[in-house]
Amino acid sequence: MTRDDLKSEIAAWLRAAGIDEAALEARHILAAASSEAEARDMAQRRAAREPLSLILGNQPFWTLDLRVTPDVLTPRADTETLVEWALSHLADGGRVVDLGTGSGAILLAILSERPNASGVGIDSSAAALQVAEENARRNNLADRCDFRAGNWADGLPGNAFDLAVSNPPYIASAVLETLDPEVTDHEPYLALDGGADGLDCYRLLVPQLFRILRPGGHAAVEIGYDQAEAVNALFAAAGFADVALSRDLAGNPRVISGQKTETQSR
Ligand SMILES: C[S@@+](CC[C@H](N)C(=O)[O-])C[C@H]1O[C@@H](n2cnc3c(N)ncnc32)[C@H](O)[C@@H]1O
Repeated sequence: MTRDDLKSEIAAWLRAAGIDEAALEARHILAAASSEAEARDMAQRRAAREPLSLILGNQPFWTLDLRVTPDVLTPRADTETLVEWALSHLADGGRVVDLGTGSGAILLAILSERPNASGVGIDSSAAALQVAEENARRNNLADRCDFRAGNWADGLPGNAFDLAVSNPPYIASAVLETLDPEVTDHEPYLALDGGADGLDCYRLLVPQLFRILRPGGHAAVEIGYDQAEAVNALFAAAGFADVALSRDLAGNPRVISGQKTETQSR
């Protein structure tokens, strides 16, 4: 069988399994496999709806190549909206914190663009932090970031960071059960579940973001498409000024941000 024949066969197989980008994914599988048997094995896993990122073991994000495992959320292209926002609010040399860092995607993308900045990534999952540390080494950023176990910002000093970002779990528990098998069967529940209305983590996080920022610093969080109003209200209630919404490339609400003004410190 030629390589092209195998690629067509795998694409047809994936298409029949309900995978939208079957031809593209077949190409990725062929590029990663070192033998026909391995390609068939990968295709079989994909047809059973295991995410391609977990089969390949990596995922592009921003300009980085990140390792992903079942212990971390596969970073999404939508999250690049938060990175873009962060880069427009961080001078080089600044100090950044990423709460719920997972694979380290957001913090590492920011640091990759600001060679004199440094940062801390917090996660409650020790297994996720190991992946983040590996990603820092893989992208030559390990000397400028520190990954630590923690419950959001508990134990972090107040008035300490120029920029604070988070992409917390924000899917309502009932909705979670209705998502594609790639998500429900393969991504960590801890990375997804935002409680009954999806907003539990924001309620805890947003006041903490305010506390750890230095006066003049900025914070932003990723949100679900229908959460802008509620998260905007949480930012305003926490004391943030200039609370604003940014949209992703598809035009959906994606990031809520705000500033702790120079006169504020708590
Ligand atoms: C939606 S994922 C985001 C991962 C990564 N930042 C990204 O954007 O791809 C949320 C992350 O928050 C972490 N998390 C959940 N509860 C947490 C808590 N109480 N304290 C710190 N991190 C938590 C999860 O382990 C997960 O890695």
